[in-house]
Amino acid sequence: MNVLHVAAEAHPLLKTGGLADVLGALPQALQAQGGLYTRLLLPGWPAVLQGVVDLRPVATLGPCFGAARVELLLAQMPGSGLPVYVIQAPMLYGKAGNPYHDPAGESWPDNLQRFGLLGWVAAQLAAGGLDPAWQPALVHAHDWHAGMACAYLKAHTAPTATVFTVHNLAYQGLFPHPDGALLGLSSRYMSSAGLEYHGQISFMKAGLKFADRLTTVSPTYAREITTPAFGCGLDGVLRSRADALTGILNGIDDEEWNPLTDSALAHRYGPRDLKGKALCKRALQAEAGLPVDAQAPLVLALSRLTEQKGLDLLLAALPTLLREGAQLVVQGTGDPALEAAFVSAARSHPGQVSVCIGYDEDRAHRLMAGADLIVVPSRFEPCGLTQLYGLRYGTLPVVCATGGLADTVVPHHPEDVAQGAANGFTFEAPTLASLTEGLQQALAGWRNAKLRRRLQLTGMAQDFSWAAPARQYRAIYEALATDQP
Ligand code: ADP
Ligand code: GLC
Repeated sequence: MNVLHVAAEAHPLLKTGGLADVLGALPQALQAQGGLYTRLLLPGWPAVLQGVVDLRPVATLGPCFGAARVELLLAQMPGSGLPVYVIQAPMLYGKAGNPYHDPAGESWPDNLQRFGLLGWVAAQLAAGGLDPAWQPALVHAHDWHAGMACAYLKAHTAPTATVFTVHNLAYQGLFPHPDGALLGLSSRYMSSAGLEYHGQISFMKAGLKFADRLTTVSPTYAREITTPAFGCGLDGVLRSRADALTGILNGIDDEEWNPLTDSALAHRYGPRDLKGKALCKRALQAEAGLPVDAQAPLVLALSRLTEQKGLDLLLAALPTLLREGAQLVVQGTGDPALEAAFVSAARSHPGQVSVCIGYDEDRAHRLMAGADLIVVPSRFEPCGLTQLYGLRYGTLPVVCATGGLADTVVPHHPEDVAQGAANGFTFEAPTLASLTEGLQQALAGWRNAKLRRRLQLTGMAQDFSWAAPARQYRAIYEALATDQP
């Protein structure tokens, strides 16, 4: 079965978060299942055009979505060789940097056209003829950026099946209702039975309403988003489609994130011998300008700095970390006020806090290897990947028990420790009191060498590869294929 994945970003071409990690690994994992032939469709951002290999033209589309000329190109993913279609439309995709918003955090003014075009090209490819050599039987669209693919395919009445995966319901692709006219769909699609959402147009809702099957990236988040507390105003739509919705936990690329082979590390290590991890910690402390001290617990926060991630709570909990003699290393970008607050904390506590504002993939690997604990105090978390990388690197996660964090981190209750199930620390609520308690337990747990080793070994032995999730997606694809006329 030919399957087209449609998304806005994919590692290693362009990455703003975990979405790119998923698109950098899931299509290949599906391919490895046998019988599935997966390709990816991406907007031609400068980084994508520069990063792919063997770029060649496939088709020319006339003027559309405000672009004078749109070309469909076919290339390969560097490394894996996965076929990638790239939409070349310099007027829409020519800006470098963040694909969604400007440096001040404001959505790009032509986002409706940019992501409308992405969905439209996906539907054209699926309808057939655009690439005479390849046509998908199923389109798998990711997040609001690709949501319009589902609406266009419904409007085409093409026999192509669609799967829509919600990676983060909080980002919805909302646009002024009158601009919906630019999408070229009948008014029926612009009503509340379609894309209309509280007087606006929602690309997320296009995916939720018109895809044949819906998935999200963990079982707990799948339940949470059908409730008003986590549904971001779309819980009613999700409840109405509860039968079509499945939570499939993300995997990780366990070749790229493997402390035994990771080329970003000066010292490699595995579960049998953690000496290399201790050396990575020394190297990280030196790199971060912190005292080199094996006894000081090194706590890591590696994250987008947004409301979702709860790092304002971590700032508030800083006195606890300082009092406990811990070191805190932060790497992230996002909310300017949070960035400034972390920089100021580092200035005030140079011996204990080190902050790097920016995005650095190699350094992320060094942080993951060198840290003792990784804290993820998210208010909500569809899946979360950094706690999974932490588990693989023997870096114990300390997480708020929500979404995918709750599905992957088993807290250190004595019976779970005894059964070899516990792999980290959780706290109940995204509040300062709860986080503080969680951090205190985690620091005490880490200082208990026997418990620490036990938790590390459990996490490092777990299989978070894409093999199992790929089988679950495959089962959905196959069920849809048998449903198709
Ligand atoms: P989200 O997608 O919500 O940001 P995830 O945990 O799913 O959260 O994925 C985040 C991804 O982005 C991980 O691969 C993480 O290592 C990476 N990441 C986040 N911030 C940075 C940063 N400042 N530098 C390097 N990598 C980062
Ligand atoms: C989103 C979510 C994150 C998830 C990622 C990949 O960015 O915030 O929890 O891991 O998508 O699915």
